[in-house]
Amino acid sequence: MTSDPVDDRSRWWEGSVIYQIYPRSFADSNGDGIGDLLGIVGRLDHLRGTDASLGVDAIWLSPIHPSPLADMGYDVADYTDVALEYGTLADFDSLVDACHARGMKLLLDLVPCHTSIEHPWFVESRSSRHDPRRDWYVWADPAPDGGPPNNWESVFGGSAWERDEATGQFYCHTFYPEQPNLNWRNPAVADAIGDAMRFWFRRGVDGFRVDAIQAAVVDDQLRDNPPFRRPSSMPGLDPGRAQAWLWNVDRPEVHDVVRGLRRVADEFAGRVLVGELYAPVERIAGFVGGTADDEFHLAFNFEMLLAPWDHGELTLAIERAEALHPPDALPTFALSNHDQPRHTTRWGRERARVAAVMLLTLRGVSTLYMGEEIGMVDHPKLPKDRRFDRAGRDAQRTPMQWEPGPGAGFTTGTPWLPTVDPERVNVADQRSRPGTLLDLYRRLIALRRESAALRRGTHRSIFGVAPDVLCWTRTADAERVVVVCNLADEPRTADLSRVAASGVVLLSTVDRGGDVDLRRLDLAGLEGLVISLPVAES
Ligand code: NOJ
Repeated sequence: MTSDPVDDRSRWWEGSVIYQIYPRSFADSNGDGIGDLLGIVGRLDHLRGTDASLGVDAIWLSPIHPSPLADMGYDVADYTDVALEYGTLADFDSLVDACHARGMKLLLDLVPCHTSIEHPWFVESRSSRHDPRRDWYVWADPAPDGGPPNNWESVFGGSAWERDEATGQFYCHTFYPEQPNLNWRNPAVADAIGDAMRFWFRRGVDGFRVDAIQAAVVDDQLRDNPPFRRPSSMPGLDPGRAQAWLWNVDRPEVHDVVRGLRRVADEFAGRVLVGELYAPVERIAGFVGGTADDEFHLAFNFEMLLAPWDHGELTLAIERAEALHPPDALPTFALSNHDQPRHTTRWGRERARVAAVMLLTLRGVSTLYMGEEIGMVDHPKLPKDRRFDRAGRDAQRTPMQWEPGPGAGFTTGTPWLPTVDPERVNVADQRSRPGTLLDLYRRLIALRRESAALRRGTHRSIFGVAPDVLCWTRTADAERVVVVCNLADEPRTADLSRVAASGVVLLSTVDRGGDVDLRRLDLAGLEGLVISLPVAES
């Protein structure tokens, strides 16, 4: 068992690339069709440690704990164990060791706001109104008409309240009814979750992605939400809601919860907490950095992920992230995850190359979702009997495609979800050929690691260089680069004379290199370019 982090550099995550693994779908070592921890161990070469590896800095595993899978693992039934189908704690220890041996960090998913209805805490809590754990969850009496205590909606639709027949009260669930909200106003809950974190930190885990933290606290008076809402400033955010979620999420008290989590993380050296909040940047920015720097180290920012392929929207997604975080905080960017359609499906596979340049040359921390490096797309039409997620997110959770063939190198058995054209889209094929999307991701990550400017340099956007063209500089010490992304299918000619007269191509999505004239820079349709600049011209 490893208890020392691989390196204690403070802020090791600055400029890092995190790779999200959906454990059920990454690699299956025992042929049962379900991914597992030893499967991940067997595939680490893909991620880091060899010349052909992607070279990511850390992996984040979606939940691996025992769970009845009402929300595919985000309904945890035991915070300090590994689900049988994923392996054992000993397998987990081997995974930690194998990651650290490669200089790679390992993050787990912490789901602190709700448990499974099968978690022993909830089983006890619902057993009687007088149970000592009753107050670990959010219970309330019915309204006078016998209905739910108030009008709150749940994320996946319907009331956020479920009636418990035996005790005659309702419990609150911000997500599925199988995910009762923990009551973070009760200090015993903070202690119990803190102990679960310590359990994994002592096993060598380098941090947590903290799930849905805005749901940690609800109004103590359970006041109704107004049945009216303004459109969100963030395209794609919560489109189905009929009310303004004012009293059930994002309560000011959530900051105290996060401070408590941070205190636990700070008991250990070099650990990171990445908060997940589906909210516009101005909201998430309040949870990171700042003078006290006592909340999350990082917070996911979904504005780019939820944006349409539109020059203005992507410009804003970048600029808002840069402008609205506190000066010392690092922004984060991602294009895909297990909750949203993949960007190759939303935006189209042909845009994946220039999108990768955008993602991996921005400041802060970039997160990849497994499979995006080979251009995997959502399953176009899952048969009814192969659907598991009631919220319809299976299509982006299909197994990783390692090789051609029936199990796609993912399993020797029958994959739990069908694969999507592994004959054409797989790692083995792309690893063996230069110029593939995988090769581009690898080169971009290598460049990001080698370049101080890309890894930790400042960011400055340059507007108006050409229609549909995004452009920014990154500068650190004596190094300066400019990134140019043509979002249009057609060629464009950009005027970068305000940046410099000339530069040297470090990387392009098309086959080109050498010196370029920045006063008249011809770009191919959907070309992404990273150009080194003479420092003197800054
Ligand atoms: C966010 C997770 O990413 C998602 O998969 C889950 O359904 C909710 N939080 C609830 O835990």
